Amino acid sequence: MAKILIISGGSKGIGEGIIEAYLSEGFQVYSISRTKNEGFKAITQIEFDLSKTDGLAALLTGVFKNFKSTEVEKITLINNAGTLGQIGKIEDISDIEKTVQLNTVTPLILTSTFISLTKNWACEKKIINISSGAAQKPYHGWSIYCATKAAIDMMTKTVAIEQSSIENGVKIIAIYPGVVDTEMQAKIRKSDKESFANIDRFLELKATNSLANATTVGKHIFAIDQDKNIENGALIRVEE
Ligand SMILES: NC(=O)c1ccc[n+]([C@@H]2O[C@H](COP(=O)([O-])OP(=O)(O)OC[C@H]3O[C@@H](n4cnc5c(N)ncnc54)[C@H](OP(=O)(O)O)[C@@H]3O)[C@@H](O)[C@H]2O)c1
Repeated sequence: MAKILIISGGSKGIGEGIIEAYLSEGFQVYSISRTKNEGFKAITQIEFDLSKTDGLAALLTGVFKNFKSTEVEKITLINNAGTLGQIGKIEDISDIEKTVQLNTVTPLILTSTFISLTKNWACEKKIINISSGAAQKPYHGWSIYCATKAAIDMMTKTVAIEQSSIENGVKIIAIYPGVVDTEMQAKIRKSDKESFANIDRFLELKATNSLANATTVGKHIFAIDQDKNIENGALIRVEE
């Protein structure tokens, strides 16, 4: 029986750490991002710009052509790809639509399509949304990022209510990974105080070696996925 992971943004950062963890536990992995990670030989990598949502449902439907529902023991979708977009005050931001598409519209479409495609499947079905503490805490300069992550949390809680009311529905949770040493953090440190008022805290976290490592975070996310005691719709901090 197959165990399957479908993940957005598996080419680097936290996504890479997640794939390492699932691969070592025998999962078949399908990763969707703009570029491939040449280090991964045993997974299927699909190059697609997830800030463009045209063709997205068809892409996931195509991935499902590789599976036979009766031969699957567990299937997990991880909505991980995300971006801060431009950092700065909202009146100075020109890439709003792209960031909202990637961070919110794409996870909504992938979630909708995944639930529809697995409707009659008898196996364990899971969706994990990679959210952020920024969903609950406003940061000066991150208005679009904070808003898109808050939307992901509410989508998680709402879909959980819908799925809990049907037999063998999908279990959906959101995870806050903490502050992790990835390109996203490097981008934060390259901004300036004018655009991002909290920059000093992030510079200090790096200087004091306090950032989490993507491999470790990937293992934690795998462990959370295995935990049957977690309630449908839960929002979970990796640090806890
Ligand atoms: N790092 C942190 O401290 C932190 C904290 C809280 C939450 N998070 C969340 O964790 C998730 C992963 O972040 P990260 O730190 O690992 O970021 P990252 O290192 O920048 O990696 C982002 C991933 O998303 C993919 N991606 C970005 N834009 C894409 C697009 N238009 N189409 C397809 N794929 C795209 C990238 O692949 P390509 O470039 O190959 O497309 C990459 O695999 C995000 O949702 C982020 O909001 C991160």
